[in-house]
Amino acid sequence: MADKTVVAFDLYGTLLSTDSIVKKLEKLVGSKAESISTLWRRYQLEYTWRLNSMGRWETFYHVTQNSLLHALAEHGEQLSAEDQESVMKAYDSLATFVDVQPALNRVAATKTIYPVIFSNGDSKAIRSSVKDSAGLATHSSIFHDLISVEDIKRYKPSVESYKHLAEKVGKQSSQMNEMWLISGNPFDIVGARNAGMNAIWVDRANKGWQDAAVPTLQPTAIVHSLEQIVEEIHRA
Ligand code: LAC
Repeated sequence: MADKTVVAFDLYGTLLSTDSIVKKLEKLVGSKAESISTLWRRYQLEYTWRLNSMGRWETFYHVTQNSLLHALAEHGEQLSAEDQESVMKAYDSLATFVDVQPALNRVAATKTIYPVIFSNGDSKAIRSSVKDSAGLATHSSIFHDLISVEDIKRYKPSVESYKHLAEKVGKQSSQMNEMWLISGNPFDIVGARNAGMNAIWVDRANKGWQDAAVPTLQPTAIVHSLEQIVEEIHRA
């Protein structure tokens, strides 16, 4: 492993599309589904950051459930316990983005890369997503580890979360720059760069980098398709 490049893939919003939940919500809340799904994701992330700030911990499952209730309430909607559960179940089998399969084929063929998953998700949810999501299941064996922040109870983008990743793959604090994060989430990119890692932002919507939380912290590289990551890592 020492001679390989550790490449950590973020899960939600990078390999799995949280937008794929819209279809499920449409059956329950009609045309508000898209807006509820967007707000749900926003609150889900906001809650993790708020919990980090307050020094508190709720499992990602509860964060996801509570933020769903918040997004529904703001749209004047509520769901029965049964319907809530079915939406939460759908979250466990999200669809992959279309570029994921070909990209992971390339990663699998690149023996110098040591791929892992690194996510805010609960260990159990990560396992079932990787195992049950049609697009990921065929590639699940390429990932050497499924790493969750659950072990340290601090969400991304805390420095501790990226240090935890380092520890799990056998890197020292002084070797953070030997690891790469691949993420579609700008806050995650800035967090990884802050912790000293390399980070590739997957800009599928071709929006260009707009995040200005810390203007000096920029992605190491930007790709428009996950298929370009191997090339970018080799270029460095
Ligand atoms: C994750 C969040 C960032 O998978 O969606 O860690």
